[in-house]
Amino acid sequence: MTDDVGLAEFALGLPKAELHLHLEGTLEPELKFELAARNGIELAEKTVAEVRATYDFTDLTSFLAVYYPAMGVLQTADDFHDLAWAYLQKAASQGVVHVEMFFDPQAHTSRGVPFENVIGGYRRAAVRAETELGVSAELILCFLRDFSAEHAMSTLMEALPYRRWIVGVGLDSDERDNPPSKFADVFARARAEGFLLTMHCDIDQPGSIEHIRQVLTEIEVDRIDHGTNIVESPELVALVKERGLGLTCCPVSNSFVTEQMKSDEIVGLMREGVAVTVNSDDPAYFGGYVGDNYVALAEHAGLSRADLVQLAINSFQASWLTPARRAAYVAQVADYAASHGVALEV
Ligand code: HPA
Ligand code: ZN
Repeated sequence: MTDDVGLAEFALGLPKAELHLHLEGTLEPELKFELAARNGIELAEKTVAEVRATYDFTDLTSFLAVYYPAMGVLQTADDFHDLAWAYLQKAASQGVVHVEMFFDPQAHTSRGVPFENVIGGYRRAAVRAETELGVSAELILCFLRDFSAEHAMSTLMEALPYRRWIVGVGLDSDERDNPPSKFADVFARARAEGFLLTMHCDIDQPGSIEHIRQVLTEIEVDRIDHGTNIVESPELVALVKERGLGLTCCPVSNSFVTEQMKSDEIVGLMREGVAVTVNSDDPAYFGGYVGDNYVALAEHAGLSRADLVQLAINSFQASWLTPARRAAYVAQVADYAASHGVALEV
């Protein structure tokens, strides 16, 4: 017997980790106006509706063409703090108890904003989340793959004084003609410096399956962001299963940059025992935070509450928490499931 809480309420309240979230992708139009006013910046759009009208994406490239210019309003450490803090409060309201957040320092340093403003502001919000919201928050530094490998390496060097604030490194931005192998030396150095590794393998890119092969066999990542094209290769699916690697999927985002949520791939991989997780990617642009992504996928693919519980468990299993902390969070999910009358398959 399940209780009478609706599916959406069940999904939103489920304790979960978010593992694929770009802080710069949480910039809501209202905050954009506030930061523009604070920094004396004149924006082309004058209303929230005008800003949203520019969110006309058909693929990754057209999304990125809106995403980067919007960041111009972020300048001081307070601005970065306010952005992350707004996200963390929203995430907490949707059941997030742990988050590993991407940030794109090169998108800021390349326009003259000091690295320390970026990391200082984000870190202050992460610490505050722990004390005021009970949300544990870590940062993942992402390199922009359409910049050079040399620029990535110098950014890695710039980050070293702050290494205790950064759990790992990732790779994002435009994948076309920018394969993982371009960054092999940077990621080898990052590994040697003690960072965990992840990389985006975006949906339906030219060379998607070759890029997935590279991240698994050349870079040897600890996780893959998106990566659902892996279904094209049973050998690579077997490899991620064998290594217990997580895939950070983003169904609502997928439906903006392709024609589908890729629910068949996500659910199929989950049923095969791959640690797929559900995340929001760039929620201010795609109109759904992580809990909303659980609801959207569940409604679209007809998932049960037990399936949602599995996704929440996966989110902790694929996280970069210590095994003891993972186990504690998984127990919290199990308690939530039990208190809502959901039996777990063991
Ligand atoms: N893919 C690549 N780059 C990005 C993304 C993404 O999902 N979100 C923000 N930058
Ligand atoms: Zn992403």
